[in-house]
Parts: sequence; C-alpha cells; structure tokens
Amino acid sequence: MPLTTQHNIIIGDAGNAAGISAESIDLVVTSPPYPMITMWDDLFCSRNPKVAEKLKTGQGNEAFELMHSDLEPIWDRVYQVLKPGGFACINIGDATRKIKDEFCLYTNHARLLHYLVKIGFSVLPDILWRKQTNSPTKFMGSGMLPAGAYVTLEHEYVLIVRKGGKRLFKTKAAIINRRQSAIFWEERNDYFSDIWTNLKGTVQRLDKNEARSRSGAFPFELAYRLINMYSVKGDTVLDPFAGTGTVMAAAMAACRNSTGVEIDPALLPVIHERTEKIVPFANQRIEDRLAAHLTFVQDRIEQKKSLRYINRNYGFPVVTNQEKELLINALETFHAPGDNTWTMDYNREPQTNYCFEEATTDGIKSVETTKVRLKKDPGQMTLFEDK
Ligand SMILES: C[S@@+](CC[C@H](N)C(=O)[O-])C[C@H]1O[C@@H](n2cnc3c(N)ncnc32)[C@H](O)[C@@H]1O
Repeated sequence: MPLTTQHNIIIGDAGNAAGISAESIDLVVTSPPYPMITMWDDLFCSRNPKVAEKLKTGQGNEAFELMHSDLEPIWDRVYQVLKPGGFACINIGDATRKIKDEFCLYTNHARLLHYLVKIGFSVLPDILWRKQTNSPTKFMGSGMLPAGAYVTLEHEYVLIVRKGGKRLFKTKAAIINRRQSAIFWEERNDYFSDIWTNLKGTVQRLDKNEARSRSGAFPFELAYRLINMYSVKGDTVLDPFAGTGTVMAAAMAACRNSTGVEIDPALLPVIHERTEKIVPFANQRIEDRLAAHLTFVQDRIEQKKSLRYINRNYGFPVVTNQEKELLINALETFHAPGDNTWTMDYNREPQTNYCFEEATTDGIKSVETTKVRLKKDPGQMTLFEDK
C-alpha cells in the first residue's frame, strides 16, 4: 500500500465553514488579514460597515477593535476543531497607520494573544520574523532630528499557542512515526530560534508577483518549517485563511493531510495550479534538506566535531539519537478525485541518492578521529574518501 495524504479546500467563511469536526485537527498554521493594514480595509468594511464609519471619522482604535471582533469567531472555531495538545501557529504583523494626522502602532499581535488566552489557549514562546527592507524610504518621521522619528517596523510575529498540555505519543506506532518525523539537529538549532532572519527567496519572489503580493501570501518555507516543528507525518493541518494555499502545499511536502478554508473563490485557480506543480517542487526542497545535511556532516568532520549516530534509513551520520529513524518521504504522484480535493502518494523508501553504506559504531568513532569510512551505495559517488 502506498503512503498517502488527503487535502481539500473549502470556499467559505472560516467562522462557520461546515465539514471540519470538533477535535479533528492536529495543527493550525495560518495568517489572517491584518487589522489596520490598508490592503484589508475593503474586506473588513464589507463585513461590518461600522468599520468604514470609524475609519472615516478618524476613530482608529474603534476600527481596530471592530476588525479584531470580526476575526474572533474564527479563533473560537480554531480552538474547537483542534485536538487537545494541538498547536496553532499564527503569523501576524502589527500595523503602523496615520489616522487624522495621528501616526501610531496598532498592536495586532498583542490584541490577538489576549483573545487567544481568553478562549483557553496556553501561550508558548513566539517567533519574531525579521523582514528587513532596503527601501530608502523606510525611515519615517523627522529623520536625523530628535524626538519626531519612528522606529521602522521590519518584523512580524509567529504566535505559538497550544490547546492544553503536551501531546502524548502512547502507542508503539505513534512513537515510531514521531521518530521518523524528526528534523535534523542542525535544522532544530535554526528553526527553534526565536528570531527568523533567513527565510529563503520566496518572500522577494512574492513581492514581484502582483497577484500574490495582493493575497498577502507568506513564504512556503515559513509554513514548511512550522509543520515540521509542530506535527508528525499523517497529522491533519488546517489553514482557516488559506489564501494561495501555501500551508496546504507545505503539508503535501511534509506528508501531512490538510484542509484550507478561503473566503475568496478567485484564489481557487492559484491553489489548483500550485498543487499541480507540488511534486517536483516539494521533492527539490526535500533533496535540498538532505544535501544540506551532508554538507553539515562534511563540515563537522573537518572540524573534528562529534557525530555519534548513524541514521538507519539513509546510513549517514547524525548528531543525536533522535535522528536515527528520520525519513523524509519523497512525493510520487497526486490525484484529484474531487473538484477541490487531492490525494498525494509518497515513496516509503529513502531517496537512493542519499543512501550510504551503513557504518559500524566503530566507523562512527573513527569519524571523530577523522578516519572516515562512509561511501555511497555501489555505483554511486563517494562522499568522503577513506583517509
Ligand atoms: C493574509 S492572507 C493569507 C495568505 C496565505 N497565508 C498564503 O500564503 O497565501 C488572508 C486570507 O484570508 C482570507 N479570508 C479573510 N477572511 C476570511 C474568512 N472569514 N474566512 C476565510 N478566509 C478569509 C482572505 O481572502 C485572504 O486570502
């Protein structure tokens, strides 16, 4: 039997979308429309005409409150559909805005966190996503003259909350699946840092693409990391503000099931197109991860740092015991059994290009003493020459 995952997109309002049962979701990764960012004014005004009135009459704080109130039923629903122990990772930025000649910061992240606590979530340390801009006009206010300039807002947040206490992995199958879903030690060091500065490429490409920049899409990498950090293979990930389907694409790449909800049907063709291209795209990202690990191994050997364990699937060295079962499944094919549903098939076997002859424990000790004896399977390139 092939390894498969299921994905579907629901077009509608996430506050009352049918078809998602209570306690059926393992992880939520999402980014709502940000209150008080002008690109979302029309949406909030169309949902509550009082928002337009408050903005027009210069009542910024009141408009801010009404916009957040509009999102609250969706956060209630997120809490309801999450399983106990499930995480919600919410990307949100604050907004700077001048209303009636008064410039101020509208603290979306603080307002949202306050609400999440109110409905029962436990707050965990968040991630500050630094999005540095090189724009010459990025500094606002009185320039070099004191007491009238404003700090440039070049970061957003990924708020991390959990429904209740720690998730438990009790059965043997669940324990094995968790170990196979592990990330590399060196990835952990990067991903679990509280400031992300190195999200690759995608952000700029999105800026250049008019349609996507209007959709407020975040980079694939942001969703892919969070899914790998907070769920295991076979879990179900929900994005109640699916937009262009970035979270669904990342779930497909990470061997998780997914559901997206999006109010704007105009984004459906973007999601379809993305899914059609996901197999080569995801496999490239997976190969990049494996290749990055081999570079890491090589550097570590050169620096004479320890690599105590061998991964059982690939036969390459890893730093910790927790990475011994790690296996990143390649995508094989997808089917679209319904209009807005997809099934993804994966390979159960490790990618042969990254498989090495199993080294013995002695071999590993010899890594530490620079006598490296790792070779790829017969007929394949040698990674490290015997010394
Ligand atoms: C910030 S964008 C999310 C972009 C997404 N992360 C991506 O990478 O493409 C927010 C999305 O939420 C959608 N939206 C707004 N209100 C909604 C609601 N009540 N229910 C479902 N979707 C909604 C918007 O149409 C928009 O596409």
